[in-house]
Amino acid sequence: MIRVALIQYTPIHGSKGVNLRAISDLLEETVADLIVLPELCTTGYFFTSGDELAPLAEGTHGEASRLLGDAAVSKRAIIVAGIAEVAGDLLYNSVFVFRPEGGEPLVYRKSHLFYKESMVFEQGDTGFPVFTDRRLDVTIGIMLCYDWRFPEAARCLALDGADIIVCPSNLVTDAWMKVMPARAIENKVFVAVANRAGSETKEGETLEFRGRSALYDPRGEPLLQADATGDRVLVAEIDPSISRDKRFNDRNDIFLDRRPDLYGRITRT
Ligand code: ACM
Repeated sequence: MIRVALIQYTPIHGSKGVNLRAISDLLEETVADLIVLPELCTTGYFFTSGDELAPLAEGTHGEASRLLGDAAVSKRAIIVAGIAEVAGDLLYNSVFVFRPEGGEPLVYRKSHLFYKESMVFEQGDTGFPVFTDRRLDVTIGIMLCYDWRFPEAARCLALDGADIIVCPSNLVTDAWMKVMPARAIENKVFVAVANRAGSETKEGETLEFRGRSALYDPRGEPLLQADATGDRVLVAEIDPSISRDKRFNDRNDIFLDRRPDLYGRITRT
């Protein structure tokens, strides 16, 4: 069994120091093996130029990485957080994964850019990463917010062995709440969505972030569900190994029954 924590949290746009302190306080009260924070949790979300975001973005040795990396080691937890990443002259909307044994974070760069993100970020070039923690006996797959609208993202992660798909988010509609349970059912995996709350206004346009962070089991049932507003730490215990049996009766196995020969460009078997 492992303990999964979703941190629903409201960053303040552009105030990285304040956000890092708030994250540090939330982490202090969190006891879990896998801790998931929202997308762009150190900077806020609504940027329309790289020049504005670049001073707050960081590589894998920046301020946020030090704080979250140290917390992962001291709490013996895997910490997954959405971070604005700078690499050379380029900005990525990324997820950094910090591990209990320390070392460089694993980086996922968002594959599908949402709305005005393309004014700021490059398209991701990492693919969809999956990694195993042997001590916890869990394999974790990473995607980021708007990736949810592409069933291929969850499918790639599940075919690569993910027991649980984690999805840091800044979701601005509720449509994902119909879809993410389906991703859990059709792949027989756990799905963890850590969303943010609050709103941000830019050039007269307001984005409302919808909260409702959730953890679904492989039958699509919610094990955790936050409300729409406010900062919360939600924790549940799961057995990741139940996701490895892809049968749902004596005759059907959702992976063995696939017909990739009929699926055109979906080439992974
Ligand atoms: C989103 O990708 N932030 C909706």
